[in-house]
Amino acid sequence: MKLKKLVVIAALFFNNQINYSCSIFAYVGSQLCKAHVLKGLSRLEYRGYDSSGFAVYDIVTNDLVVLKKPGKIAELKMAALASSCDGYAALGHTRWSTHGVSNEVNAHPHTNDDRTFALVHNGIIENHFQLREQLSKEGYTFKTETDTEVMVHLFDQELKKTDDIKKATLQTVRKLKGACTFVALHKDHPEMLIAARQRAPICIGVGEDGMHIASDFLAFADKTNQVFFMPEKSIAFIKKGAIFAYDYDGNVLPIETKTVNLQPSAYEKLDHDHFMLKEIYEQKIAIEKTVAHLHELGDKVWSQLGLTPQQARTLFSLNLFGCGTSWHAARIGQFFFEKIAKMPTSVYLASEFRYMEFFPCLDCLFMSVSQSGETADTLELIRYFKKFGARLATLTNVATSSMVRETNGHLLTKAGPEIAVASTKAFSTQLASLYWLAHRFALQRGHINMEQMAQAEKDVLHAASVLEQTIDQYKVDIIEAAKTYAQAQRIMYLGRHVTYPFAMEGALKLKEISYIFAQGYPAGELKHGSIALVDEHTPIILFSHQDPVIYQKLVGNAQEVKARGGHLLIFAFEGQDELIQLADRVYTIPRVAPLLEPLAMTGIMQFFAYQVALVLGRDIDKPRNLAKSVTVE
Ligand code: G6P
Repeated sequence: MKLKKLVVIAALFFNNQINYSCSIFAYVGSQLCKAHVLKGLSRLEYRGYDSSGFAVYDIVTNDLVVLKKPGKIAELKMAALASSCDGYAALGHTRWSTHGVSNEVNAHPHTNDDRTFALVHNGIIENHFQLREQLSKEGYTFKTETDTEVMVHLFDQELKKTDDIKKATLQTVRKLKGACTFVALHKDHPEMLIAARQRAPICIGVGEDGMHIASDFLAFADKTNQVFFMPEKSIAFIKKGAIFAYDYDGNVLPIETKTVNLQPSAYEKLDHDHFMLKEIYEQKIAIEKTVAHLHELGDKVWSQLGLTPQQARTLFSLNLFGCGTSWHAARIGQFFFEKIAKMPTSVYLASEFRYMEFFPCLDCLFMSVSQSGETADTLELIRYFKKFGARLATLTNVATSSMVRETNGHLLTKAGPEIAVASTKAFSTQLASLYWLAHRFALQRGHINMEQMAQAEKDVLHAASVLEQTIDQYKVDIIEAAKTYAQAQRIMYLGRHVTYPFAMEGALKLKEISYIFAQGYPAGELKHGSIALVDEHTPIILFSHQDPVIYQKLVGNAQEVKARGGHLLIFAFEGQDELIQLADRVYTIPRVAPLLEPLAMTGIMQFFAYQVALVLGRDIDKPRNLAKSVTVE
């Protein structure tokens, strides 16, 4: 089959897509591929790492060999090394558990009773309960707690009815509801992989020696940049030199590949111990790249956001939404838009707002903030807003993401791939972008002039330098201090105004990687209840503010803590002597432009959390129970 190259967006096909945690990687071609599939899977481990598994059509035994292990992929690699199996077609999976605990039985691949095929699945089958009952009545027994097993039995049932594998595949997928993307390897067709895409994405890298099938093209970044993104509700039969794809009605689909931009070096730790540390240090450059990109965009930003310049001038309000760290960035961004662009701004937590009453506003912009552009909660809120005809945009780090495809316009951060689960450079580039965009709106609305716009860009770059320079300045002290703070059972983070959402981000960073309970709290609220927690065993981390009025209030809050014997670690700004004197430990930060306090403090805030987690021996890049791109609601 002839593969047609298409550099335009293959994404036209990607309507209505949710990405689900878990990842699939498979290969079919002319090379023995065990090592390649395991390596590709490692690159996707950020999507889930509760268990992993691998199946190959072994060329020695002419049979399927299946290996599965709970825990990180290193376990699977050891088992695979110990096995002599290898072949020219294989598939693998890493799992972020939704149905059933993380054990070997529930790990993918799953096989049918006759062990004629192995299958890996990404997604949640919404009608699995009904299908399970029906299949049980028909004599199938279930060995796992997974929803995937219904898919295996259904496919088995259809394969027993016909020799036509296309027909059997179509009959199977038509019965499934929800996210049902899968790849299968059948021992009667060892030269071919079977794939189906329903909601969770899957793409096929067209390489010189074979085809690489993955949930994310970074799995085969070192092999090819020619990628066929399987359209929603399609199936494909993939052989060494050809892809045969069909829609659910059985019609042939064109195979159009897209050239993707890959940066393999971003996926290596280089000389750092962890991706998180590497990414903390990459922030200054990432912010510089983001600002350069935005500067170049200039007033083209409106068309890119799906707005006319007139709409940008007259929009009634801005509504930001997201999850986790991105939500914190949006909460900080709210201050930028209100103060600088004088725009009423609201911020929603995506997982909550979906179930709240929405009063449509056609003269408003709804903008998601998301590193990955794939978070299911945020995507679902986009779809919810869409039903009301809302004007939608996204701020994301991934140009090929679902959010870019499903909104009217977008703005890109230039953080580069972020591998560590805990977000660092994505957060700081989001802050830089939101600050820039607030100024651009202000310019458009006549609140500032070009000179002030140019100054804003310089101010962000200065804050980025402070972010990096303070890590070097306080590195030794933080490494030492981390030994003490790592003993704490709980830590409170306080801030006010723009440093309150920043305190929430500080607390999230610490708890997700160190597992120490931490809470970000508005300093002014302390006296209304939480002050009861203050004692010598509960360190308080306080982020200061440069505004003289807010600063004075923070001094008062610090005194309240000291009066109750609390321990204070303070991130203060130069010249804030009164506050500095109250601190048990202090990091003093050079002054930056108003509202850029969080950006300036980001480096040492993250470095502190990293060092505490290091003392505790945590798995920093892949903390327990988490996934980089949480793609289930
Ligand atoms: C997950 C990650 C967080 C991230 C959140 C939102 O929970 O572990 O680090 O902040 O998803 O992700 P997004 O890609 O939408 O920014």
